[in-house]
Order: sequence, then structure tokens, then C-alpha cells
Amino acid sequence: MERRNFLWGAATAAHQVEGDNQHSDWWRWEKEGNIEGGALSGKACDHWRLFREDLQLAKSLGLNSYRFSIEWAKIEPVQGEWNEEAFAWYDSLLQECEKLEIVPMITLHHFTLPAWMADKGGFAVKESITHFVRFASEVIRRFGDRIPLWCTFNEPLVLCLGAYLGGFMPPAKNNPELIGVASRNILDAHALTYDLLHRRRKKRLGPFAHFPLEVGIAHNMMDFLPDRVWHPIEQIVAGALDRFYNRAWLDAITGAKQNFGLLGLIKAPEQNKMLHGHRTADYIGVNFYTKAFVRWKPRDSGEGVITQLPLGVSFARKEEPQSDMGWAIHPDGLRKALECAASYNLPIYVTENGIADRADRYRRGYIFDHLLEISKANENGANIRGFYYWSLLDNFEWSKGFGPRFGLFEVDYETKERKARASALAYRDIIRAHEGTAAPQADILKSLR
Ligand code: FCB
Repeated sequence: MERRNFLWGAATAAHQVEGDNQHSDWWRWEKEGNIEGGALSGKACDHWRLFREDLQLAKSLGLNSYRFSIEWAKIEPVQGEWNEEAFAWYDSLLQECEKLEIVPMITLHHFTLPAWMADKGGFAVKESITHFVRFASEVIRRFGDRIPLWCTFNEPLVLCLGAYLGGFMPPAKNNPELIGVASRNILDAHALTYDLLHRRRKKRLGPFAHFPLEVGIAHNMMDFLPDRVWHPIEQIVAGALDRFYNRAWLDAITGAKQNFGLLGLIKAPEQNKMLHGHRTADYIGVNFYTKAFVRWKPRDSGEGVITQLPLGVSFARKEEPQSDMGWAIHPDGLRKALECAASYNLPIYVTENGIADRADRYRRGYIFDHLLEISKANENGANIRGFYYWSLLDNFEWSKGFGPRFGLFEVDYETKERKARASALAYRDIIRAHEGTAAPQADILKSLR
């Protein structure tokens, strides 16, 4: 495969698909009854057993890239002890990618921690940096020669918000100051891992050896809008959230000023001055799903009061098309996210974009309309090199359990059988029609739509 080919992908995360992540903080969190309907991730999709079949499914759609995570809690279930069985499994998964010419993008941290690390205080404590980097360097030592694309952290800000404000991730403390503290620690861990990967002198091996090494993060972006366009406070808050939520991390990894603080709610931690002017990303990974209406003095708690401020956030108007998560379908927001990402002058990967749609009513159109925004952004000078649909399979959707169905392939959780949804075949046709092109093309998309 030529390196210049657009990467047509799908993404997953270990905890959501593999099953049996027993030594993780989430496993315990689930047992404590924190998931909707009391769900437990259990065997999840049993990807651990069925990964060969799953990669064949990916191949059958014509995917040439697969983004997945290597689970720290499986690799180091007990502090200081590497689990050889887990390394062997990830080795087989990589071999399968190599055999099928599916370029792996590896996420090193996707929301979960080994329980022992969570017990020490997770990323809210400085020592997490050393522990994470030790884990990352062992993965790099073993697999570094074979992997071109790395995503150190998935949605670090969502992780910090879920853990220290929103209550939807362990340890669900309500202590906003820790959002800044943990962000700073994660930034340091990210930057050290970036340097580790780039300082490595060993020759790259395998079918992707000629691909340039690219390291970044997957960053969740949202379109913040005032609930009432005329409302001055809502306009100001939407702007502040845009800066904080969409830009702060991108500034930090591109060497600009770090500002993880927010409006008297989150105290900005001390900056890592060594990173000023020092870029620690080769690309920008954009995870995009929806928009957020910001309302000052929300009418009822259904609007999600998120802080001690009288501030509500909602993700769709009642009357507009939305996913099973209640997230509005809003391709125009992807356009804005890509414009923002492009302003950093780095290549971009859309590392996640997808919809929970059990009936598969909107997914086909969703994929088309978001790819169309990608094609337009490229025409306007952005450099978008890949698209990863979230997700390859229906999977364990964190605090929502198995209810939301994001998959290109439907999973029967009883039998673990997979079935292609009609939208998956539409995605396959889009990929086929783009053979020989470098990126999604508006005319091709429009002719198939
Ligand atoms: C993202 C997460 C991913 C998945 C999707 C729906 O925020 O990175 O694991 O849960 O949302």
C-alpha cells in the first residue's frame, strides 16, 4: 500500500470490545453498580477470542486501517509485572493487521487504568507519569518497530471531566481542581512518550516500515452554541468552553501556552515551561460527534447542570434528528472542528466519528455527510489523512452499558455473532468508489448519496 493513500478505518478500545478486563478500575466500577441497568462489561464482544474474524470483517469492507488500544491493565495487571500472555495476544493482533495490510493505529490509553494505578490516585498524582511512561516504553520496546501511528491518549479532557466533575467515570470525585492537575500530568506523560518514540534509533520493520512515524492524541471536539443566540452570557460561556474544551489541549501539544483552567471553576495548573515552543504532536486526532447548547439558568435538571454555576448543557433540540444517545446529527460541527484543527498546520486524522443508531436509520447518511465535510475541508487546504468510524462493532459504551449501538457490525451479545448493517455496506461502497484517490471526494460522495 502506498503511504499517500487515505486511511479508511474504524476504531475500537480494548475495554469496550475485548472482554475480561478484570484488573482495571472500570471492572471494579462496574461491579459497584455504576453502569446503566447494572451492566457489566464481562466478555464484551469477545474480541479477545474473535479478533481474527473481526479483522476479516474490517477487511471485507475494504478498511486499510484499524485504530485499537493496548490495555495497560492487561499488560501490567500487577504493578511491575508484565503479562506475557497479553503481549502475545497483541502480537497476534498486530500480525493479523500485517497479514491483511491494515495499518494499525495504537492508542496507549483509552479511559481505563490498572486498578493498582487507580488506587494510587490515577492521573491526579504525579507518580502516574513515571508509571505510564514505563508501560509505554515496554510496549514501544516490543512493538515499536512495527507501528507507524500512535495515539498516546484518547480524549484526555473527557477523562478528567468524567473522573473529577461529571461523575461518569471512576473515581467520580467532584473536585474540579483535579481536572487541571490531571491534565498537566497527562500532558507530561504524553510529551515523554512522544519523545521516547521519536528518539528511538531502531530500524522500522514489517509492511508498514516505510510509513512515517506519527504520534498524537485523539481529542474530542464539540460545537458549543448559545442556547439563545441573542443571550450575551450564553455567548460568552459558549466561547469560553470552545477555548477550554476544543483548543486548550491542541495549544498544549503544539507548544503554545498551556491553559487548562476555566472561569473560576478550574484553577489552571502550573505550566510545563519545557514544552513552550516544543511541539509534541505530528498530527491532530479529532473525535467528533455532536454539538452542545449552553444555557444560562437552565429550566430543569434534564438539561444537565454541570457545575456549581447555573449552567446547563444539552446535545440536541427535541425536534431535531438525533442518535440513540440523544446527540444531534451535526456535520457542520465537524466542519468547524476541522477548521480549528487545521489552524495548527498539522496533518489531521478523524480518529472517531460515528452514531449510536440501533435501527440503522441515520448511520448511512451520517457517514456520507461527515465525509463530505472532510472532502470540503481538504479542498480548503486542510490535510486530512484518515477517517476512523466509531465503531467497528457494537460495544460496551462506558456508563451506558450495552444499550447504545455504534457498530458497523451488529453484535448479538448472547451468541457473539456479528452481522453487517446496511450502512456498513454503504461505507464499503464509498471506500471502493475512492480507489486510486488520495482522499474523500465530494463528487464521488454526492453520486453515491
Ligand atoms: C468517545 C470515546 C469512545 C466511545 C465514543 C462513543 O468519547 O472515545 O470510547 O465511547 O465516545
